[in-house]
Amino acid sequence: PLPVILDVDTGVDDACALILAALHPEVDLRAVTCVGGNAPLADVVRNTLTVLEACDSTHVPVAAGASRPLLENAVDARHVHGDDGMADLGWAPPTTSPDPRHAVDVLREGIDEAHASGGPVTLVPLAPMTNVALLARMYPESFARIGRIVFMGGGAMVSNATAAAEFNVFHDPEATAVVLDATAEHGVPVTMYGLDVFYEPRISLAQCDELASLDERGPGALAAGLMRFMSHRFDADSATIGDAGALAMLLDPGAVQTRRLPVRVELAGTWTRGRTIVDTRDWSGDMDHDPHGLAEAQVDVALEIDGPRIARLWL
Ligand code: BDR
Ligand code: CA
Repeated sequence: PLPVILDVDTGVDDACALILAALHPEVDLRAVTCVGGNAPLADVVRNTLTVLEACDSTHVPVAAGASRPLLENAVDARHVHGDDGMADLGWAPPTTSPDPRHAVDVLREGIDEAHASGGPVTLVPLAPMTNVALLARMYPESFARIGRIVFMGGGAMVSNATAAAEFNVFHDPEATAVVLDATAEHGVPVTMYGLDVFYEPRISLAQCDELASLDERGPGALAAGLMRFMSHRFDADSATIGDAGALAMLLDPGAVQTRRLPVRVELAGTWTRGRTIVDTRDWSGDMDHDPHGLAEAQVDVALEIDGPRIARLWL
């Protein structure tokens, strides 16, 4: 199984990713680190523990990290994810507690341990990248030991938080920029699973009924509750598994087409702060012809996906 660490802001679709990580036999979920994003940090930690408890995965360490972005005040997305950040399902609070270590220390130790045992970690950030940026600055030698990063964030053509920017990058643009620079500096391969593909793996309300029939208070009931909530929220008959697609992509790489392209984060801009600038020009990557030095961080950008295939994998 693939050693994986998830960094999350749980979050309805982060919960979908946690369920997949906890239950799929090809994933060895080593740790989960939390960051403020969809909801305030304390809610994110509680939601994450709730999901892992529902999946009988209470052995996985869950650690709290940054409660706010590097530069700006926190905003959240409870208007999308519910007052509790995870679909307001009314489940009893978790009985387990978070790991006492800071998320950055859990990342460092998890990465170093996996590296020492010969199977480097795949880090899957599904949230604002504040924790990962702090790791890159505090422990660059550990950052360099990450086997691969597959993150949900950004988009070449599609945005959601603003007309220009995707939520995770918008929430902490400097953090994303630090992480992309660090991948280039340390030669860590990085894949961007952004909004160009994010909405396509979908679960129908009929499939929610199937999930709900699996158990009373387990991953089936939870998954059904999450997807029903999002379907209703958007007045649709299906919902995206969102962040879970980024993890599913690791398990079925053939279902997603990527292109290696230079990516930069817009840090200024009156209307464009937080936008990922994906350079799709034919000659991109050729520094001789790039007046702004935009060609440094080479990112495998997910541009096309077989949505139903990824959705079936998750189901
Ligand atoms: C991203 O933002 C959050 O609301 C979701 O959990 C996902 O990670 C989508 O823009
Ligand atoms: Ca998320």
